[in-house]
Amino acid sequence: MCGIVGYVGGREAAPIILASLKKLEYRGYDSAGIAVLSHGKLAVCRSEGKLENLELALRQKPISGTIGIGHTRWATHGRPSELNAHPHRAGEVVVVHNGIIENYLDLKEELLGRGVKFDSETDTEVVAHLVNEKINKGAEFLAAVQKTLKEIDGSYALVFLNQSDPKRLILAKNSTPIVIGCGDGETFVASDIPALLDYTRKVTFLEDGEVAEVRADGFRVLDRKGKAVQRSFKEIAWDAVAAQKGGYRHFMLKEIHEQPRAITDTFRGRISPKNGDVLLDGLPFGPAELREIDKIHLVACGTAWHAALVGKFMLEEIAQIPAEVDYGSEFRYRFPLLGSRSLLLLISQSGETADTLAGVNLARSKGSRIVSICNVVDSSLARKSDGVLYTHAGPEISVASTKAFTTQLTALFLLAVGLGRLRGSVNVSEGRRFLRELIHLPKKIEEALKLENDFDQLARELKGAANFLYLGRGLNYPIAQEGALKLKEISYIHAEGYPAGEMKHGPIALIDETMPVLVLVPKDRYFQKTMGNLKEVESRGGKTIVLTDEPGTFAASAFRVLTVPKTSHYLMPIVLTIPLQLFAYYVAVHRGTDVDQPRNLAKSVTVE
Ligand code: G6P
Repeated sequence: MCGIVGYVGGREAAPIILASLKKLEYRGYDSAGIAVLSHGKLAVCRSEGKLENLELALRQKPISGTIGIGHTRWATHGRPSELNAHPHRAGEVVVVHNGIIENYLDLKEELLGRGVKFDSETDTEVVAHLVNEKINKGAEFLAAVQKTLKEIDGSYALVFLNQSDPKRLILAKNSTPIVIGCGDGETFVASDIPALLDYTRKVTFLEDGEVAEVRADGFRVLDRKGKAVQRSFKEIAWDAVAAQKGGYRHFMLKEIHEQPRAITDTFRGRISPKNGDVLLDGLPFGPAELREIDKIHLVACGTAWHAALVGKFMLEEIAQIPAEVDYGSEFRYRFPLLGSRSLLLLISQSGETADTLAGVNLARSKGSRIVSICNVVDSSLARKSDGVLYTHAGPEISVASTKAFTTQLTALFLLAVGLGRLRGSVNVSEGRRFLRELIHLPKKIEEALKLENDFDQLARELKGAANFLYLGRGLNYPIAQEGALKLKEISYIHAEGYPAGEMKHGPIALIDETMPVLVLVPKDRYFQKTMGNLKEVESRGGKTIVLTDEPGTFAASAFRVLTVPKTSHYLMPIVLTIPLQLFAYYVAVHRGTDVDQPRNLAKSVTVE
């Protein structure tokens, strides 16, 4: 996720672009850049790191001009560096991009074949070259962009500026947001509303497939076929902070709602549904090496550790590779039996968790292969690993992890299917079936999100309970643990997640009429067994809250039965996570705690 902005009008563009980028820093902050048309020539300034570095560079070497574009980056393709920072330039064209161009490698190869030289490792630079090539061959600016859009696949919000066409910006959108704001003799462009609110409240959003031509005195929107589209304005009434949260009250809720998009971005470009195959882009090992792996050690902390527990099920059952799971803080001090055929799989949102990072040195000394599943590009963990499977969740601001977790599960599923195909435990038709289910997952998540009001209501009713128990079986018992952790973290209520069958060996002693018990009961191979555990709770007076995709079978004795959409066995943990996140969120809201920054916790724990 990146932030993009554009300005055309009568004022100096650079300060407006910088101020707008500041409001978008939550979308990415590893490098930034700006391009302004200054005295008829494009002037580009980019810098690695936070926006303040760009500000400093511009203070030292100001750029004057009244039309320009800007970008704050969250790296996906190519590490954070000045060369990979946007805008990207080809000839007289510069572009900023938010999204992922899926077919960029094929396009890049074609361009290289035609003698084009690349400065960066990004997918975006391909787009700049494609537009520039067409302009060089005589195409008009807008037409060159429209033709290029027919060649690229993926998600994008793009803003182009052309030195030889100094009065307009060209915008294009597919899957990622872009909004146009209208001022008096000036027009603004941004990824999100907060970047515009200091200048205008009159905004309009582009729709997928649309292209816009933006000038100081207004704009024109065209559909996929180039036909003009009438677009009216919306008046925005929110204050700027609320807008930064996209209208949500907290970042956590915003991030919960971003999950369909984040999951899509994580599998986008990595799957070949036709061949039932997964492109394990981050793994620098050949098929022979991957076939050789005889054990996977998953290591992580906190929420990522729960992802690792689910990953064990996926890797053992789908890819048929023995797997074990450790906490980072434990792994580093024990003597795990690692060897040259072992794979250490580290999972971390931030890539900076000290205990997780410590596993790397241990594995290195034993000659094991090291792969991480990580959200932050070029983080310490990413740099230390042999290979990285990035989750493309975008920046996670709320301390309680939500979208990072479900994208970690998505990446683990991709890894299990990919390794399974390579090692022969998954055949083509099974691979196709797995991937078909994955493609439908974002829709299922959207359906699960519709349970929000039910969980808001339930949270109101149960917010006074002193203890909660969460139960699940198989690959959903780590989800029970994750549900309990979410509740603990943000509402400060004691909660425990347990494998349902293990309840009778201890937690059952706690059950009475004051104890709410959330039970995950999807219609899977454990269904009857978990039903039995449910009865054990109910017969001791416990208040059962049932989450299931098969609501018909539950007796009226349950306190509440809530229905989640059906999905396949290995993706059910992701679907079941959504209501548990919503429940924890609303309990915290109704108890009045600081949801996004809970007491005593840190987003990333970089010390032991
Ligand atoms: C902290 C956070 C958790 C997170 C854990 C691991 O404890 O509060 O939400 O799950 O660190 O973080 P990582 O960045 O390694 O996934």
